[in-house]
Amino acid sequence: MPLPKAELHLHIEGTLEPELAFELAARNGVPLPYATVGDLRAAYDFKDLQSFLDLYYELTAVLRTERDFEDLADAYLARAAAQGVRHAEIFFDPQAHTRRGVALGTVVEGLWRALGRGEDSHGVSTRLIMCFLRDESAESALETLRAAEPYLDRIAGVGLDSAEAGHPPAKFREVYEAAAALGLRRVAHAGEEGPPEYIRQALDVLGVERVDHGLRCLEDPELVARLARERIPLTLCPLSNVRLRAVDTLADHPLPALLDAGLLCTVNSDDPAYFGGYVGDTFDAVRDTLGLTEDRLRELARNSFLAAFLDHDEERRAR
Ligand code: ADE
Ligand code: ZN
Repeated sequence: MPLPKAELHLHIEGTLEPELAFELAARNGVPLPYATVGDLRAAYDFKDLQSFLDLYYELTAVLRTERDFEDLADAYLARAAAQGVRHAEIFFDPQAHTRRGVALGTVVEGLWRALGRGEDSHGVSTRLIMCFLRDESAESALETLRAAEPYLDRIAGVGLDSAEAGHPPAKFREVYEAAAALGLRRVAHAGEEGPPEYIRQALDVLGVERVDHGLRCLEDPELVARLARERIPLTLCPLSNVRLRAVDTLADHPLPALLDAGLLCTVNSDDPAYFGGYVGDTFDAVRDTLGLTEDRLRELARNSFLAAFLDHDEERRAR
């Protein structure tokens, strides 16, 4: 029986397995520049975040209809449930779809068709977190938030993702203030490739409750002390950090140091179709490679529920 856990850093577009990409491409008549599933998988050799994002956005072309988004979310729920996930807070990137002519409603309604029945179909409760692409403009983020207003009963929070370097959190102050005024929870990717200063901005300018990645906090001992003192959760993604070369090998990952520093760490899969494993695989990998004890693994699982956007009763039920 895999350890029950919550997954808090998961891009639904990053769960698009090559087999499903080919199936959707055929269904929608979308040409793919890869002859076979094997050819596509061979392209999963990334040198940094941008080289991954280029392929990730390219493959979104196959997602066109509500049914496509429903199938994508259903496939994730099945895999997650098999790996012990009881609750998932799922990112989606509306601008990656609206900018190629797919309506926001198609995305949200399609995802919701699967997620809304996730507890019954797979025993997984979910929240949706709408991410703004930080390499798009602040105005585009604001337009996206306005366009999402009819769907806010299905969206728990906002996040910030895509290419980090050169796109500081402070650029999105206004849209985060507007999101807070709408009662939305706030998270942001920071310190994946960007400097510790971006983590400070995410906290102080955007008011985030969790930091996605946050890996580079280690370069700033005062920031580490603050994150520990304020019990700010980090949603770490060790397999992603290896594949996108934030660390050289999994054995070099600073997860043990972050735990030793008293940080509220969680372990997540980020874009599992691209990075070689879902969250249960990630737990197994950090156990085997970093030598984490069973107590440490249980701490990570407990942290995932503590850091989730669940109320007390929901949290008890999910564990
Ligand atoms: N979008 C999907 N995966 C991402 C990641 N690891 N960092 C930033 N943006 C992303
Ligand atoms: Zn991410």
